[in-house]
Parts: sequence; C-alpha cells; structure tokens
Amino acid sequence: MKFYCSKCNREESVDTRKAKCECGGLWKLDYQPPKIDLEKIKSDKWGLLRYREWIPVDSKALGKVSLGEGMTPAIHLDEDVMLKMDYFMPTLSFKDRGAAVLIAHAKSIGVKSLVQDSSGNAGNSVAAYSAKAGIESEIFVPEGTSPKKIDMIRSHGARVNVVPGSRDHCADVCRSKVEEEGVYYANHVFNPFFYQGTKTYIYEVYEQLKRIPENIFVPLGNGTLFLGVMIGLEELLQSGIIERMPKVFAIQGENCAPFAEAVQAGKKEIEHITPKKTLAEGIAIGAPMRGDEILEYIYKYDIRVITAPEDGILPAREKLAKKGVYVEHTTAATYTAYLKLVGQEGRLKDVLLPMCGAGLKSDH
Ligand SMILES: Cc1ncc(COP(=O)(O)O)c(C=O)c1O
Ligand SMILES: [Zn+2]
Repeated sequence: MKFYCSKCNREESVDTRKAKCECGGLWKLDYQPPKIDLEKIKSDKWGLLRYREWIPVDSKALGKVSLGEGMTPAIHLDEDVMLKMDYFMPTLSFKDRGAAVLIAHAKSIGVKSLVQDSSGNAGNSVAAYSAKAGIESEIFVPEGTSPKKIDMIRSHGARVNVVPGSRDHCADVCRSKVEEEGVYYANHVFNPFFYQGTKTYIYEVYEQLKRIPENIFVPLGNGTLFLGVMIGLEELLQSGIIERMPKVFAIQGENCAPFAEAVQAGKKEIEHITPKKTLAEGIAIGAPMRGDEILEYIYKYDIRVITAPEDGILPAREKLAKKGVYVEHTTAATYTAYLKLVGQEGRLKDVLLPMCGAGLKSDH
C-alpha cells in the first residue's frame, strides 16, 4: 500500500507527513482490499472494526480511537424511500466514519498534533477523535459556522480559529499554516484515509439489506461521502457481490453547484466559483479539491447531479421532522433534491437517502 500523486504519479509512503505532493497534486491511495465476503465481517465488533479486513489501518489503533461510529440503521421513510441514519454517530454526523480511520492512521504513525479546516462537522469529528487518541488539534472554521458546532469543537479541547470570509478561504488559511509550519493536515479532503472510513457506508448498507438499492443519493460538496460511496460500490462490484452499479445521484445546493455546471457544459474540469449564501453550508464548496477525480466518476457511471432549490430546504426539513426525523439544513437539501426530481419526473422507487447531520447542529 502506498500513496501516489494524482498529478505526476510520484509514489510516497503512506507514513508521510506531507499533506500533498511537491507538484501540488493530492495523494491517492494505492490499496486493493481482499475480496469482500460477508462471512469475514467481524460480527462481534460494533463499529468500523467490523470491516477491519478491508480497512488499511492498524486494527489496534482503530480499536483505541473508536467512539462506536458506524452501524447506523436504515429505516423506511415511506414506500419508496429508505433513510440511512448516519447522524446516529458519536459527533452526530457521517464524518465520524472518516475521522475514525484517519485519526487511527495518524496515531499509528506517531502524530502528536494536527490541524484541520471544516464547515463544522468534519472539525467536530476530527476534534473528538483526536481527543480520544490523545492528539492535540486546532480546527479552522469559516465565520458563520453554527455556534453549536464551534462549542462542540471547543468542548473536545481543540483550539478553534474562526476565519472571516468564505469556507474556501478558511481552507486556504489553514493550508498556509500547514505549508509554513509543516504541521500534520488531518483533512477530510486531502487525506485518502478518510475515504477508507466513509466507504463503510456502503458496506453497511449491503450487510443490512443484503442488496444495494437501485437509487443512491449522496450530497456533494467536497465529496467525502461521495468518494467513499464510489470506492465502496466499486469494491462490491470487483468482489462479484453486486452485478452492476446502482444509479447514483449527486446532490448540490442550487447556490453552489460547480459540478452541476461542469456537467451541463460537458466539461472535464471544474471551474471554481464563489458560493452564494445558502442554508446548505455543508455542501457550499466552490473549489472542490478533488473536483477532477469526482467528475471522472460522474462521467464513468453516468451519475446525475441534481441541484436542491434553496427555497425548498426548510419545507423539506419540516417534512422530515414531521415524520420524526430531525436533520440539519445540509441534509434536508438531499431530500429537497429528491422531492424536486420526483416532482419533475414522477415516482422513483427503491431510493436510499443518507441522513448525514443531526438537526440540533443547525441554527434556526
Ligand atoms: C451534514 C453534511 N452533509 C454533507 C456534507 C458534504 O460532504 P462533502 O463536502 O464531503 O461532500 C457535509 C460536509 O461537511 C455535511 O456536514
Ligand atoms: Zn506530484
């Protein structure tokens, strides 16, 4: 197993502290897991360790940093839609899948302190897992991040830097610190180990349902769940567990939709944009760093990119809440997009929507 550069193909040990290649390219992970086999799941484990055969980190480190992430239920919303309740997690969002694996990796290579930037949820998650691992953390969040997320990050003992300006600018400020001080960048977009955690979303769906639903919706900002889902599905396909890819729908907010714009224009590269104000803060990414990699998947598997209308987000959130499901605005955007699609094209059966973030995290 090794890292290689997405731009120049240079190889690097996965133990590196370098956030990216000297040429500026992000690392990709060269790792081929063994064939997936339901019999090999560690069914006495109640978390990601269940899938340790296919997660390339030290199992002991993963066991030590684990906070009981994963194993989220899939429930019926109605006849057509199932919800995977990924906000039933230690820090109330799906990011815990990725953070558990990333921080286990950091711990196993001896990292003592790290930095991260985030719209909130990934920062919550990295702060909590770092605290469990005994690693110091400093988290950069953009101004306007919900105060509840900031309080939560602080409560884990992390230093919080609230950066004026956009989410993308906040990332730039954090990355300057990484470049200047050489501090470990425990970032959900840069570090490929994060996706080795988020891919378990798909493993779990398969283990729970013994099949993969026909229509998989995934929010798309930086694509940490999206890439995890695609890696997980490809692994199931290569293992002969599924015969074909399901239909994947990537969801962006209409006020920040660089992937939707690229696809509409038939472009192979993402043009960076400045997001307009949106309630869907978690997917308001105008400069997705793995844009080209994500676009490749979009074209390869004919993935549809659907935009969620801004004025549909609060009504969709209320609709879910009226059925007992209380999610944050970004998560309601996924349901908004589903409702828009069904409104335009008619009934869609066998749909899986991820409920990524808990309602208590948003301000109202
Ligand atoms: C609740 C929620 N949903 C979806 C996303 C989108 O994740 P990504 O930007 O990795 O695509 C985020 C990211 O912060 C989030 O917090
Ligand atoms: Zn390179």
